Amino acid sequence: MGSFSSSLGNLFPLVFLLVLLSGMSCEAQLSTSFYNKTCPGALTEIRNAVRRAVSAERRMAASLIRLHFHDCFVQGCDGSILLDESPSIRSEKTAIPNNNSARGYNVIEDAKRTLERICPSVVSCADILTVAARDASVAVGGPTWEVKLGRKDSTTANRDRANSDLPSPFADANTLIAAFDVKGLNTRDMIALSGSHTLGQAQCFLFRSRIYSNGTDIDPGFASTRRRKCLQTGGDTTLAPLDLVTPNSFDNNYYKNLVQRKGLLISDQVLFTSPSTNSIVIEYSKSPAAFAADFASAMKKMSEIEPLLAPNGIVRKTCGAIN
Ligand code: HEM
Ligand SMILES: *[C@@H]1O[C@H](CO)[C@@H](O)[C@H](O)[C@H]1NC(C)=O
Ligand SMILES: *[C@@H]1O[C@H](CO)[C@@H](O)[C@H](O)[C@H]1NC(C)=O
Ligand SMILES: *[C@@H]1O[C@H](CO)[C@@H](O)[C@H](O)[C@H]1NC(C)=O
Repeated sequence: MGSFSSSLGNLFPLVFLLVLLSGMSCEAQLSTSFYNKTCPGALTEIRNAVRRAVSAERRMAASLIRLHFHDCFVQGCDGSILLDESPSIRSEKTAIPNNNSARGYNVIEDAKRTLERICPSVVSCADILTVAARDASVAVGGPTWEVKLGRKDSTTANRDRANSDLPSPFADANTLIAAFDVKGLNTRDMIALSGSHTLGQAQCFLFRSRIYSNGTDIDPGFASTRRRKCLQTGGDTTLAPLDLVTPNSFDNNYYKNLVQRKGLLISDQVLFTSPSTNSIVIEYSKSPAAFAADFASAMKKMSEIEPLLAPNGIVRKTCGAIN
């Protein structure tokens, strides 16, 4: 007892020093005003680049939102998805969920080029992509939210992780719940984020088995319409809208479709079929406001998965390569 308390006494100055040092740690934090002094034009320039791209092609809003998701699920939102293949990088771009599928890289490079001109080596690609996803939502009538900034860019990519951590369109509800749970996103977040499929397109080979299944979880008229442009063989890359009603605007029709068994992907329809997710789908199908609010907060949460912060990481000069 005596020796126990005296060793505590000896430790006290050390503990005190450690507490002091940890308070002085130079690891940065995410903050909404991160670039206010160093690059006051950053948010405006990113918004302009997104607006230009979305007015040229509405689908680009969908593509940017998905690109951000695929960045954040692989070693956090660190711009790793933007890196090109090189002798030192096995890119995520060529991972199965991204190859010939992820798009919007040029929009991010455009914004980056502008920002390098006005404030060189200040704004990370990871932050540009995060802000672009928010601005893309707004550009097609979706909700807005405050984006915290200060992410650094990775010097690495991880193709294996992109292959293992991004969810499959053939997954069941419990698998989807688990894939989001390991990223700190709960079931409600997962269902709200899946509502991104109110926008954009998917390739025939990713939904063919569903429309030819003759199952009870698909509306027969919807299946037969989709079969016309997605034959049993060939035309693998032919596109169909993820939301058959309004693929270019942000609304809750995605959930209304699921209630009518008109979801395109297996991973969409299971959210209505499975008892663990069904009630939230019904809730969002009835309340656009609940969906929009939950989508905004889940997007924020997703954008803060494992942030890469100074003194770690870099600010890339172009998003496709390390400096
Ligand atoms: C729940 C698990 C998810 C699965 C299995 C999934 C799967 C897919 C698949 C297979 C496509 C079509 C890709 C292609 O045809 O090449 C797609 C498109 C899309 N996904 Fe997801 N997704 C999921 C969640 C999300 C999340 C969380 C977001 C965003 C927060 C998202 C946003 C999008 C968007 C916007 C598109 C359309 C992209 C475009 O048209 O360019 N998805 N998704
Ligand atoms: C930073 O800039 C943004 C956008 O210009 C502004 O809304 C915000 O109030 C500023 N924050 C601080 C702390 O100055
Ligand atoms: C990506 O797709 C291209 C065809 O567009 C193909 O040549 C290449 O092998 C694919 N990459 C990987 C890693 O699968
Ligand atoms: C579903 O029905 C169609 C014709 O109605 C048939 O051609 C197809 O083979 C069936 N698919 C399965 C998986 O049974």
